Amino acid sequence: MIKISVFVSGRGSNFEAIMKAITNSLKKVEVCAVVSNKSDCGAVKLAESYGIPVYVASDSGKTGTVSYHNLLEILKEKQIDLIVLAGFLKKIPDEMIDEFSNRIVNIHPSLLPAFGGKGMYGLNVHKAVFEKSCMVSGPTVHFVDKIYDNGKIIAQEAVDISNVNSPEEIAAKVLRVEHKLLPFVIGKISEDKLKIKNNRVYLEN
Ligand code: GRF
Repeated sequence: MIKISVFVSGRGSNFEAIMKAITNSLKKVEVCAVVSNKSDCGAVKLAESYGIPVYVASDSGKTGTVSYHNLLEILKEKQIDLIVLAGFLKKIPDEMIDEFSNRIVNIHPSLLPAFGGKGMYGLNVHKAVFEKSCMVSGPTVHFVDKIYDNGKIIAQEAVDISNVNSPEEIAAKVLRVEHKLLPFVIGKISEDKLKIKNNRVYLEN
């Protein structure tokens, strides 16, 4: 069994896909905490409906929030094995990355290393992909290091976008695949089937 914490900032469709996969097939995964930088987003409401503890992270000192340093202590106390960033828009503090080295994964809606980095999130990514007239796009699940969208790639899936008419259409096509890819990777990690050999990531069958 692995204990995960899902970090969210928005509507939470990837979080929902993880929860559905846990019900249906991911029997070795337990979501023990949801972390958000926004107290009122769709993903937080969803977490509450599942009865999962929610932590609103902020270094502002506002009532009802927890600092990133204290959050790290909470995650350690809860013995979280893996942090999953599912649409989390804040940069993860270096202290957390050091503590959870190779134990933080993110889903990004383009085929990294293309269309990643600061400012490349949400529809910005799909607009850039559309304007470049890319014929394929698709999601990437990768490890999180101290640089935006830079960690080693764990899984990607190409999506044919040769006939799309808008960035929104790309977003919808890619999102459908995100909902399979992220639970797939979490499942592999929970079964200890993610291996790093020769500096490269392998997912065993
Ligand atoms: C997804 O497109 C994900 O790739 C990106 O942010 C979006 C989050 O969507 N990192 P949702 O909140 O999971 O619906």
